[in-house]
Amino acid sequence: MSAITANGHTFFYREQGTGDVALFVHGFPLDSTMWLEQLRDLSDIRRCIAPDLRGFGWSAPSVRPVVTMEDHADDLVAMLDALAVDRVDLVGLSMGGYVGLAFAERHPDRLRSLALVDTKSVEDGADAKAGRIAAAERVAAEGREALAHDMLGVLVADSASAWVRARVRTMIEATPVETIVAALEGMRLRPDRTSVLAGLEVPVGVIVGEHDVLSPVADADHMAVSAGGPLTVVPDAGHMAPIESPAAVADALRSLWA
Ligand code: MLT
Repeated sequence: MSAITANGHTFFYREQGTGDVALFVHGFPLDSTMWLEQLRDLSDIRRCIAPDLRGFGWSAPSVRPVVTMEDHADDLVAMLDALAVDRVDLVGLSMGGYVGLAFAERHPDRLRSLALVDTKSVEDGADAKAGRIAAAERVAAEGREALAHDMLGVLVADSASAWVRARVRTMIEATPVETIVAALEGMRLRPDRTSVLAGLEVPVGVIVGEHDVLSPVADADHMAVSAGGPLTVVPDAGHMAPIESPAAVADALRSLWA
């Protein structure tokens, strides 16, 4: 792990490879270890950088009741500035995709391509917004093990191995409760960014696990149509396609970047 200070925060990040930068943005409530296979598999063609977002993984804890997708996007640009990196191939999973869309809206000149993995461009509906508030209350009262219990069943496909489940559980249970609450509020407040996709002038690719129930294939298709980019459906994977089927995700990224 390396560390860097940017935007007033200390961020840890993993890095492998040389050349043009691919920036891997993790989901909620996860960390940069979810991209280990992509760093391994794609470092022959990219300098792969996977940060722990503010409050997640090893990065400094959140000290605010809400951290928005815009906050994370601006953190990433500050990190890239500090690393003297200009444009990136951004790959975002789920919340990382929400951050990627905020990044695309606010800093389009810093993108070379955008890969949206197991995510959606629409905002939360009324039920999902209420669910965020309920989840924040539950995790504050009962702890992150309760959240891990609630989320594991929907994060991975039924066929996922015990090892994949253990890895996801470990990430959730290692995320500070304050970070979880601040991120739930930040996701609740995010707007619909479908229109950002239509206006982007860089290649956009969409990747989704066939059995993703959190960001289903219909949401992925909506983004691919809006962006005019390719849609890759990963067989036998759920919401955590990069961990569940790393080879298929690496193939889709290689062809997007070719
Ligand atoms: C994620 O994987 O980042 C979350 O499931 C996203 C969300 O809760 O909307």
